[in-house]
Formats: sequence, structure tokens, C-alpha cells
Amino acid sequence: MTLLDVENLSKRYTSGGRAVTALDGVSLTLSAGETLGLAGASGSGKSTLARVLTRLVPADGGAVRFGGEDWLALSGGRLRRRRAKMQMVFQDVLGAFNPRATVASVIADPLRIHAVVPRAEREREVAALLDRVGLPASYGARSIRDVSGGQRQRIAIARAIASRPALIVLDEAVSALDVSLREKILELLVALQEERGIAYLFVSHDLAVLAAVSHRIAVMEAGRIVETGPAARVIGDPQSSAARALVRAVPRLLIEQENRNGV
Ligand SMILES: Nc1ncnc2c1ncn2[C@@H]1O[C@H](COP(=O)(O)OP(=O)(O)OP(=O)(O)O)[C@@H](O)[C@H]1O
Ligand SMILES: [Mg+2]
Repeated sequence: MTLLDVENLSKRYTSGGRAVTALDGVSLTLSAGETLGLAGASGSGKSTLARVLTRLVPADGGAVRFGGEDWLALSGGRLRRRRAKMQMVFQDVLGAFNPRATVASVIADPLRIHAVVPRAEREREVAALLDRVGLPASYGARSIRDVSGGQRQRIAIARAIASRPALIVLDEAVSALDVSLREKILELLVALQEERGIAYLFVSHDLAVLAAVSHRIAVMEAGRIVETGPAARVIGDPQSSAARALVRAVPRLLIEQENRNGV
């Protein structure tokens, strides 16, 4: 079942009198429960696509259908309600919060806004969400400035799944973490997807990260998607120069590719 259908999205920025075409006719689809990895060099437009889809910045043109609705036409209360179904985890999502906010309040926000559970059950639900992302319930009382980078991403994930979304857009969600932490967070995301059928649009400049989680990979270059295919095919037999350059940037993938091809 198609969950997200993006057609011909465009976005230009003008800064200092210079126009930059960040999205130049981007089309893609995403099925329920699927992970689409979005790769591309720095400046290729990945974050712009993530921000347009999550309605943080407006598109200039194109259409987005999400769960059968005209997603870009939603506004006001309807948009606020529907946001429950499309959540996001960015590199440092919690950095935008008041650093004194408690972990529990950050996770309880979407429970309250979207009335996910009755008020009397909110505290228990926060504890269950903390537990699910691998943190003790006692962390609820901490302020978010007093948790580590890996824990912050776990909290961001708990917040993102709180409203029971169908899609989570992740933009460089594990890029700031060291390798062993990164692997644990990726495992958590995969387990959550299996349990809850959540689809991910997983943005990363690092093909090794995308290789670990993606069913399909799309590669962006200069605001366009230049290649899309099953993850193993895009990594094992990249067709575009942009995809080949990304594979070359990850020695381990290159070695796997050579082994597979018997070089
Ligand atoms: N707010 C903005 N104002 C002006 N130009 C912008 C703005 N945001 C992004 N751009 C430009 O749009 C293009 C795409 O940027 P974007 O952040 O989407 O790339 P990206 O693929 O996410 O890169 P990275 O891998 O470095 O995060 C770049 O040329 C960037 O300089
Ligand atoms: Mg980016």
C-alpha cells in the first residue's frame, strides 16, 4: 500500500540575491512499513526534502499525498492533527527545546497534543515509551541538557513514536553518534518498524548507514533524484556517478561490492 506519494516537488531558496534550486522535480513513493534511504552529497537537497515533507518549509511546486490525503493542502487544526501520523527525528531535534524541559515532558507533549491516551494514563505511557527505547523510567525526571547524545536520540525516537505515526522522517538521525551507539540506535529503529509497521524516510550522507536499514535507496544530486532501486542493487551496482561516488566513500561497501563481483 502506498503511504507517501511525492510528485514533482520543487523548492528554490533565494539568499543574498542568489537563487538556489534545492529541489528540482523530486518524485518518490514510500509504502507502509518500508524504509527508503535518501542518499546524496552535501548540498544535494536531502534536508530540504525532509523539511518540505514535514511541512517545516513550504514547497514552490509539486504534490504530496500522504495516507491518501493532499498533504500540502492541509493547514491549521487539520494539519496539527495529521502531524501525529508523520513525525521526525533530526540530528539534534531536542536542541530546539528548552534545555530545562524534563525528558518526561518532552515525551508527554505529543501524548497530550494528540490525546493518544487518557490523561490519567499519560505518566504510565511515558514510562512505557522510555522503556521501549531502552531508558529507565527514572530518566523522565532529568532535564534534557543532562542526558548524553545517544540518550537524546533515544528520547527523540520515543517522542516520535508516541503519537503512533505511520511515517518517521529521519534526517542524519545517527550521524553525530559514534559507531557502536549508532548501531544500537539503528537496531532499535528496525525493531520498532517490525513491531509497529512504521515507514521511514531515512536521510543520510553515509551509505553504510543506509545499507543497514533501507529496503530501497534513492540518490539525490543537485536537487534531483538520479537513481532509485533496491538497497543491495544501488550499493552493489550503482548506475549513476553520484551513487558510485557515495559507494567509493565507504571502503567497506566497496570491498563487499568487489567480493560480490569476484574482482
Ligand atoms: N534556508 C536556506 N536558505 C538558502 N539556501 C539554502 C537554505 N537551506 C538550504 N539551502 C541550500 O539548498 C541546497 C540544498 O541544501 P540541503 O540542506 O537540502 O542539502 P543536504 O543534502 O541536506 O546537505 P547536507 O548533506 O550537507 O546536510 C544547498 O545549496 C543549500 O545551500
Ligand atoms: Mg542535510
